[in-house]
Amino acid sequence: MTDAHARSLSQDSLLALWHSAGKHGVYQQLPQFLSDDFGGIQAPIDERWRGDRSRLAYLRTCVDFNGLRIVDIGANTGFFSLTLAHDDGASVTAVEPDPANRDFLKAVGQHYGLQHLSVSDAPVTLDTVGNLPQSDLVLLLNVLHHAGDDFDRAYVPEAAALQGYMTDYLGRLAKTTRAMIFQLGYNWCGNKATPILPVRHPFDMLDYLRPIFDQAGWHMDRVAVRFDTDDRRMVELEPYAGQPTLAPGSAALAEVPGVRALLETRHLPEISEFYARPLIICSVR
Ligand SMILES: C[S@@+](CC[C@H](N)C(=O)[O-])C[C@H]1O[C@@H](n2cnc3c(N)ncnc32)[C@H](O)[C@@H]1O
Repeated sequence: MTDAHARSLSQDSLLALWHSAGKHGVYQQLPQFLSDDFGGIQAPIDERWRGDRSRLAYLRTCVDFNGLRIVDIGANTGFFSLTLAHDDGASVTAVEPDPANRDFLKAVGQHYGLQHLSVSDAPVTLDTVGNLPQSDLVLLLNVLHHAGDDFDRAYVPEAAALQGYMTDYLGRLAKTTRAMIFQLGYNWCGNKATPILPVRHPFDMLDYLRPIFDQAGWHMDRVAVRFDTDDRRMVELEPYAGQPTLAPGSAALAEVPGVRALLETRHLPEISEFYARPLIICSVR
């Protein structure tokens, strides 16, 4: 990536740079400021599949990112890293091992002169997670279920090893930061043939994660899921209730059909499996 290349970004070169043929390419939406500045350009990503924009909109109602030192582990093409550095006044370290994704992050960072964005290529593993720079907040979104495939194969030879592995990993991570926004996929390595849990069962996911977070020294402060493909709101769940319960702030949603069904059946049958992954805001105990 040269400076000249970064300066000469156009609609076409931007999308070409965004496109990675790697396993985690063609994944995230473009940040809104890029769409706005490049003639409404959009990445070919179906928002109904995963909802980057609704994740960000929800998180902005919970967290004031201004001035925070953030480490984004698995930054991908920077929907969060670039947006938080450009729009929200955060200082972001974006960690992304995919070279094409990283070139995109760097090109956009250079194009906009984002002084508070740094891009790291060093994969975060069990052996290195404790060496991350001290931060106020870590984003760890949809990365750890890839342990055993993308990284740390020796530590995670099978899905059953993930629980102990995550306890160690998150315990070490807790020594580098104060807070974390966490999301996990529930097919090990993203493979439906190796499920960790049945997908679309957010309360079972919380039951799985609770002892991991407890032992690793984390408290789940707020937990949210989408409940409808067309309704972009997220509903907040109570993570420590012991039975399906909404957090007080979401009580008004209790009679919305998708939410009522979730409380009655514990699952979200009609929705993209990504939306049913709890988005968890946690703090170090
Ligand atoms: C499924 S994507 C999730 C992207 C983003 N965090 C999100 O939720 O939208 C996983 C990302 O983690 C990156 N990744 C894989 N192994 C990693 C590692 N050891 N350390 C940091 N990032 C990693 C991949 O390249 C990919 O961009």
